Amino acid sequence: MTEIVLQDLAKHYDSSVAVEHMSIRIAPGELVALLGPSGCGKTTTLRMVGGFVDVSSGRILVGGRDVTALPPNRRNMGFVFQNYALFPHMSVAENVAFGLQMRKTPKPETAKRVAQALARVKLASFADRLPKQLSGGQQQRVALARALVIEPDVLLLDEPLSNLDATLRQEMKIEIRQLQQSLGLTTIFVTHDQDEAMSVADRMVLMRQGRVEQMGTPGDIFETPCSRFAAEFMGVTNLFPGKAAAPGLFVLDDGAVVRLADAAVPSGPCSLALRPERIEVSAAPPAEGDNSFHAMVEIATYRGALIEYRLRSQRGLTMIARRPTPALGGPAVLAPGATVHVSWPITAGSLVPEN
Ligand SMILES: Nc1ncnc2c1ncn2[C@@H]1O[C@H](COP(=O)(O)OP(=O)(O)OP(=O)(O)O)[C@@H](O)[C@H]1O
Ligand SMILES: [Mg+2]
Repeated sequence: MTEIVLQDLAKHYDSSVAVEHMSIRIAPGELVALLGPSGCGKTTTLRMVGGFVDVSSGRILVGGRDVTALPPNRRNMGFVFQNYALFPHMSVAENVAFGLQMRKTPKPETAKRVAQALARVKLASFADRLPKQLSGGQQQRVALARALVIEPDVLLLDEPLSNLDATLRQEMKIEIRQLQQSLGLTTIFVTHDQDEAMSVADRMVLMRQGRVEQMGTPGDIFETPCSRFAAEFMGVTNLFPGKAAAPGLFVLDDGAVVRLADAAVPSGPCSLALRPERIEVSAAPPAEGDNSFHAMVEIATYRGALIEYRLRSQRGLTMIARRPTPALGGPAVLAPGATVHVSWPITAGSLVPEN
């Protein structure tokens, strides 16, 4: 198992900066998700680690060895590109064998390892097909087999599930995670999908405009986003600007006063962050001690396991709440126009800096 260390990595293109001050340490056997919106520098970072893009400054250490100046084929890393990049005129087996041939591996050894890699991704009987004769999920597996066959120290995956439908994505996610864990492969997994990142990663690196915005376990970033940007990216749909008036007291811009268990008083401008699933919506008055106000249901949307409400307070504040559907033990659905109590426990809200 191999440690990866990125030290103050940067990539500049003529006038623009793609990646800057990227310093992370990935523990041996760890899966780290690089997460962030389009253009934030995920692919550039991954390609620098793989050796496909030269760094402008900084260093990359793999297992203690400085690989910054080495070409890709001397880094012993398995790479799965976003579009798989299979060779269309080569069979599945030839695609998988490619990396071994480049390394001048003897033929019998190559055949053995290709068979092994295909078995590992459950494609043993597809060796002679061409990529175009495979489904998206099968092509994705070939790409994975091709990355694994060289017995890499490190696995680099760039949006490996983006071309798959929802069901297949779910399956492949689990398969990749199981393979990665059973082989003990230190892995960087690029995605722009926070759900996907949370469900596969040991830790996540949230990127913003070429820099690390926040790094931590999925739980850390989900529970305590460090900024409005991080909160929004992690699906906090309720972010209300205001001012910390005193420890545990926050005054929203519309004048409403909210109590918080968190007694920190941030110095700069900040917002109250409230996850939609923490907000109770009810015709009956809420529990004593909770924050509450009157609101009107604007829209109620059926979302499978959840009903999503858009609500508007008397002061005009719009918020989103998600409650379990009646089928799952939730209360009866409230109709648009209904006047309701909206409430949340004081432990549910947190303050995040504006930015
Ligand atoms: N070869 C290049 N020349 C100039 N600018 C580039 C080049 N490659 C990438 N960039 C720029 O660098 C920034 C980061 O790009 P990158 O591909 O790393 O983003 P990303 O996070 O992978 O985005 P996406 O989610 O869309 O794949 C973008 O602004 C992009 O336009
Ligand atoms: Mg990309």
